[in-house]
Amino acid sequence: MANEDACMLRKWEDGNDPKKRYLASLFQLARGIEQNFMGGGGKRKRTSSLASYLLNMSERLFAIRRVLKDTGVIYLHCDWNAGHYIKIVMDVIFDKKNFRNEIVWCYSGGGIPGKDFPRKHDTLFRYTNSDIYTFHVIRKPYKENTQQVGIHSTYSGKGNKIDLERGTPITDWWTDIKTVTGWNPERLGYPTQKPLALLERIITTSSNEDDLILDPFCGCGTAVHAAEKLGRQWIGVDISHFAVGLMQRRVLDPENNLGLSLSDISVHKAPLTADDAKRMALQDRFKFEEWVLGYLQANQLQKGRGPDGGIDGILEFYTLFEQDEEGNVKGERQGAIVQVKSGKVTPDAVKALHSTVLTSNLTAGIFVCFKEYKNTVENVLGNIKDEFRDVSGSYPVMQWLSVEDMLNGVDPKLPVLRPEHGGRTVPKPIENERLM
Ligand SMILES: C[S@@+](CC[C@H](N)C(=O)[O-])C[C@H]1O[C@@H](n2cnc3c(N)ncnc32)[C@H](O)[C@@H]1O
Repeated sequence: MANEDACMLRKWEDGNDPKKRYLASLFQLARGIEQNFMGGGGKRKRTSSLASYLLNMSERLFAIRRVLKDTGVIYLHCDWNAGHYIKIVMDVIFDKKNFRNEIVWCYSGGGIPGKDFPRKHDTLFRYTNSDIYTFHVIRKPYKENTQQVGIHSTYSGKGNKIDLERGTPITDWWTDIKTVTGWNPERLGYPTQKPLALLERIITTSSNEDDLILDPFCGCGTAVHAAEKLGRQWIGVDISHFAVGLMQRRVLDPENNLGLSLSDISVHKAPLTADDAKRMALQDRFKFEEWVLGYLQANQLQKGRGPDGGIDGILEFYTLFEQDEEGNVKGERQGAIVQVKSGKVTPDAVKALHSTVLTSNLTAGIFVCFKEYKNTVENVLGNIKDEFRDVSGSYPVMQWLSVEDMLNGVDPKLPVLRPEHGGRTVPKPIENERLM
């Protein structure tokens, strides 16, 4: 457990809040379990990521309870790692009597281990803040055999009337919502992206139009997308500038049909205009770079704050060789190197990116900087004639994009974009994948 977490834990143990004192003993228990029974040995014996996680989550859950309306509802999404500990934390912070459901979201896809049952569900804990809360029943069609019985008798065996048209309420076991994988047009490549349908179900069930939805860990913004689509107000929070850039772009993207423009949203600690972006670039060029990569939906490279060899991120796309009328394509995954400049641009910087592209196994280079360096960049690019092509046309190998144009929704000129942020940067051939 890090020093600052250990200090916070001591404050909780010695403080006046009975809930915090109670939880502190749970964290000590988790610390002991981790040290003795979770395979920690040697140096790891002195650390406790489980206890730190629970402590930090609890701090945030206390803050959420403070701002949650008396009639509000919270859904907490967990997987098998710590869900069972988090349930205890939730029982303490939100009160056991306010527990409503443990929803099991089942999905498929991904890896299959050889010697274990594949882990293919997540858990959503649903708590309210009192016994007055919104709940809109969602229904699904009856199973076929129930429908057959229903044709002869509108009463079930228990004497309840069956309304075939209305359907039956969905239970706490959700199997009809798929994860966002493959060519799914929703896919942004954010590693923990959740399906829009999941967030739509949660929001539809537990809120009314104009209600306020808060997602304090909102990643690529699925909750804010769903909230806007369903006519709710929303606030999305994420610690990562990459996520904020991605989310900003997502809610403004005309393809998402949310009808929002820059003047409809406000952003805290991230840029909305070119002037804001310049201020951010001056204050912290690394955060600025992260935010640009998120906005462009490019892979963010895992790297320290040192020389990056001219590569800040990779924008993945596909060159298509064939596309039939049904949308089947044959293509190859490609990557464009993205280089973000927060300040002054020299001709050498642009030439260096070109050299990096030529010596890499990637196809294109995108130079991003502020518009004031337009002439410098275009003078160099004017002498570079390299192009690559696919069935959709030909594209310049070296391109530039101003931050100003990016904020106006302009994209680099590339064939089919299919960004992935999981760190895979080596192009791999694909065959016959469907676009939609
Ligand atoms: C599981 S992901 C959420 C995914 C989201 N539902 C989506 O569809 O993209 C958790 C997010 O919490 C963010 N995060 C982690 N610690 C945070 C903190 N202390 N404050 C705010 N966000 C945080 C991470 O950057 C990550 O994007």
